Amino acid sequence: MARITASVYTSHVPAIGAAMDLGKTQEPYWQKVFAGYEPSRQWMKENTPDVVFLVYNDHATAFSLDFIPTFAIGTAAGYKVADEGWGPRPVPDVEGHPELAAHIAQSVIQQDFDLTIVNNMDVDHGLTVPLSLMCGDTPRWPVKVIPFAVNVVQYPVPSGMRCFKLGQAIRKAVESYDGDLNVQIWGTGGMSHQLQGPRAGLINRDWDNAFLDRLIADPEGLAGVPHIDYVREAGSEGIELVMWLIARGAMADVAGGPAPTLRHRFYHVPASNTAVGHLILENNQ
Ligand code: DHB
Ligand code: FE
Repeated sequence: MARITASVYTSHVPAIGAAMDLGKTQEPYWQKVFAGYEPSRQWMKENTPDVVFLVYNDHATAFSLDFIPTFAIGTAAGYKVADEGWGPRPVPDVEGHPELAAHIAQSVIQQDFDLTIVNNMDVDHGLTVPLSLMCGDTPRWPVKVIPFAVNVVQYPVPSGMRCFKLGQAIRKAVESYDGDLNVQIWGTGGMSHQLQGPRAGLINRDWDNAFLDRLIADPEGLAGVPHIDYVREAGSEGIELVMWLIARGAMADVAGGPAPTLRHRFYHVPASNTAVGHLILENNQ
């Protein structure tokens, strides 16, 4: 069967991608950010899965305001890197896993979650920046990717609890796949940031670190936090953090298994307008 071996959580700040693409990673401002991902890149080399189920948000790139799916699963064989206004990032296109994606769609929809099936889309910084952070500069991504896009841009957005329960359904789906695959699930976006309005630039270190603590040790309690708390405490774009609960809900302990091992934890401010947070949790099974 397929199994989820680990979950990864990371911010997706577009300027991090630009720093890599423009050769600025050794500048003092960026060096501190990338130093925090050195252990992660090493870990990724040693623990390369077959497939990454990558939970992210599209920033009105593939989905304009004409169509806003709450949850969308990519079932394509491949995905092009989106042009977000400055030309596509000079990173490899993304290879999909249509068989596993179609199986997960089937299983999760039958578990009563409504997913939009996407056979053709480009992927934006929400997906490519986490890949760049974890895999570095590479001519080819070392993993296949199932993009899973969540609407956290246009209200109403899904609750943390719905995301957490969806993660549990995804775990069941992966484990019922008839094929031996090592799968990681990544939750991306966040941490605290607000990009517009009078509170633009808001960062909340205490709240972010409490979120990381609870994501590790009390994910179900954290899933009960309402939207208004994210927006008030972590800024309007801090709501991206609900996506981390999808990945956390897919871990073994939530289904009665042993607690995960914390492999890496990193937090850094500033990176563009955003607090960068990052965790790696490994399943013990
Ligand atoms: C920034 C952060 C984001 O999450 C995003 O989608 C766009 C910009 C920023 O920090 O500038
Ligand atoms: Fe974002």
